[in-house]
Amino acid sequence: MTTFSPARILAIETSCDETACAVLENGRTLLSSIVASQMEMHARYGGVFPEVASRQHVLSITPVVQQALAQARVTINDIDVIAVTRGPGLTGSLVVGVNMAKGLALASGKPIIGVNHLEGHLYSAWVQKAGDVPTTEPRFPLMTLLVSGGHTELNLMTGHLTYKRLGSTRDDAAGEAFDKVARLLELGYPGGPAIQKAAVGGDANRFNFPRARLDGEYDFSFSGLKTAVLYTVNDLKKKNESLPVADLAASFQQAVVETLYKKTIKAAREHGAKDILVAGGVSANSALREMFKSQTEFPVHIPPLSLCTDNAAMIASAGYYRFVNGHVSELDFDVAPTWALP
Ligand code: KG4
Ligand code: ZN
Repeated sequence: MTTFSPARILAIETSCDETACAVLENGRTLLSSIVASQMEMHARYGGVFPEVASRQHVLSITPVVQQALAQARVTINDIDVIAVTRGPGLTGSLVVGVNMAKGLALASGKPIIGVNHLEGHLYSAWVQKAGDVPTTEPRFPLMTLLVSGGHTELNLMTGHLTYKRLGSTRDDAAGEAFDKVARLLELGYPGGPAIQKAAVGGDANRFNFPRARLDGEYDFSFSGLKTAVLYTVNDLKKKNESLPVADLAASFQQAVVETLYKKTIKAAREHGAKDILVAGGVSANSALREMFKSQTEFPVHIPPLSLCTDNAAMIASAGYYRFVNGHVSELDFDVAPTWALP
């Protein structure tokens, strides 16, 4: 099998409730990134409704791919490799993106590569928007914190595509905790941005919610924190007190952010990391970003907001590094809904 350094990669992402397509040039430069969000559609269910998500992907995928090509001012003939999210994610959603990518690969004769969504989140830190001042690339060994709706993981990257898993959540993912607490505070879906907004002006020290330390471990646990918020809310309701939503949101947010921050810094020190990378939907959180950026011991890489939540630029970036390192998929590969970080 021969690989080459592809000039342009087109990537597709449909693992959850975002239909996305992007074109990346020379491994780092983002020519276009289109994200069609279904958020409003799922908000009325308080979370992602898988059947609705997959059908919406079917409706959006063709125009989204067309827009990504148009925005990049290229045609499918200018693309060298097709990358697509293979998993983890919702089966019915993944299938739509994978089949579109296979169709494009088959029709154009270009190679295809199935990409791990979590690896994609980490590689969002390598994406450079066209026209932006170039940022420095993350250096290895690199301590990575991946915080999304489904995952919370600490991995040491010793080089490209090489991960040593140090810890993960024992129960809820960080984003899941945001979503569940937002629901019980009746703030709507998705919970992360809603909590962040509600927390503005709130007193983060009003409620001393538990920080599960799990001493000596790099694992995380957020279900105790979620239950503590629930008990506090129930107590206040029993007393017929109006809910101090801003203080509750700020105190909860502070507990999550502090836990993520402390474990990551500790892991980075203990493993001699040069840099830290924070990625995934929760890395859009302003309190989390501020806390990491305010320390000066390690250079911290956090993607711009548009690349924190699900997008296809990150899939193109991971696909690029996979492809130049000799990975390529057969046309008959299946989706991998529970795929862990390779
Ligand atoms: O990475 P992502 O878009 O999808 C998954 O791969 O899961 O992450 C979605 C998660 C949701 O749980 C959402 O509430 C959370 O990221 N999130 C945030 C913020 N924006 C999105 N959490 C905290 N603060 C935010 N600003
Ligand atoms: Zn994601």
